[in-house]
Amino acid sequence: MQSIKHLVLGITGGIAAYKAAELTRLFVKQGISVQVVMTEAACQFITPVTMQALSGKQVYTQMWDAGIANGMPHIELSREADAILVAPASADFMAKLVQGKADDLLSTLCLARDCPLLVAPAMNKQMWEHPATQRNAQQLIADGVTLLGPDSGVQACGETGMGRMLEPEALLADLLATFQQQPLPLAGKRVLITAGPTVEQIDPVRAITNFSSGKMGYSIAEAALEMGAEVTLVSGPTALQAPAAAKTISVKSAQEMLNAVMAHVNNQDIFIGVAAVADYRPASPSDQKIKKSDSTLNIELVPNEDILAKVAALPKPPFCVGFAAESENLLEYAEQKRKRKNIPLIAANIATEALGADESTLTLLDNTGSHVLAKTSKLKLARGLLSHIAKMINN
Ligand code: C5P
Repeated sequence: MQSIKHLVLGITGGIAAYKAAELTRLFVKQGISVQVVMTEAACQFITPVTMQALSGKQVYTQMWDAGIANGMPHIELSREADAILVAPASADFMAKLVQGKADDLLSTLCLARDCPLLVAPAMNKQMWEHPATQRNAQQLIADGVTLLGPDSGVQACGETGMGRMLEPEALLADLLATFQQQPLPLAGKRVLITAGPTVEQIDPVRAITNFSSGKMGYSIAEAALEMGAEVTLVSGPTALQAPAAAKTISVKSAQEMLNAVMAHVNNQDIFIGVAAVADYRPASPSDQKIKKSDSTLNIELVPNEDILAKVAALPKPPFCVGFAAESENLLEYAEQKRKRKNIPLIAANIATEALGADESTLTLLDNTGSHVLAKTSKLKLARGLLSHIAKMINN
């Protein structure tokens, strides 16, 4: 079977219709485009507006929708679809499918399709166990329809038994398994990334900063989004465009970066400190421009707090990843840094090669040893690093 990129999600009338919202969110995160079609009864349980917001596409509910190109929605909507999933599928809708009825948009679409049809039944246990529904379920299987669920458990009516719709995560897993498709490696994971330099003010017009371009951190943000993650990017000043799908917080100083990280670290699964955080800041930045004189100027510097070490020391830290840019003894210094900051993984590179460059080499150090990612673009390195992280957290 070909992989699934375009899905028509049919929603029929049942209390489980509310789960279609979460289901749509999961599909979209998986990179699947979702065209929602709702029956009239489904609109009594969840609004087309909600489904439109989550799918990012107009929701269709009627055969006679003027918005459809050639006035033949049953053809037009299924043309692009790799599959139709009806979730929840009511007992009535299953009966309609068995009979080949086509008296509304969704049933017509199912009859006119030339792609696989998957059905997730959801109903009260008596309705599910009724011989008529059981007959219909068997007939659908005989007709080549894939039945996903139902599950057993407590039902909306208060009874316990078979008939609950499968949970959205299980439906996604079943759909992907049907198409022999791997879930995205970071689907559903939250990733917090620091990127770029920090700027430590000396006076209103002068500052201490470094040559970090932010390219590595932004590439990691982009690759994490591609892999299905929800990304928060805390960035020092850069000339780069942040990926639109990331939540981006712009900061200047190390102190601001620390505050932004601590405000967003809750519920994160992964924290990747890529920023070149200034180790020191002026002890007392001047409110006024410091006047030039002939004598030596000494600026007292005090250390900045280590953001990565602080996150790693939280009672329930996310999976923490650091970067080590060294000019000598790369692996030795990087490993010392990994142990000192108490983090499971560090990515080491030669500072002079990596800073501002488009390509670089990365060596990943974890407690199994070192893994080299050969010289390539920062986006490809980011994908390699994130695949390594996904393997570590899934083990
Ligand atoms: O100790 P060093 O600065 O070399 O460590 C680099 C790693 O620590 C990077 O991942 C960097 O983002 C992080 N770091 C930090 N806060 C600091 C200094 C470094 O998060 N104040």
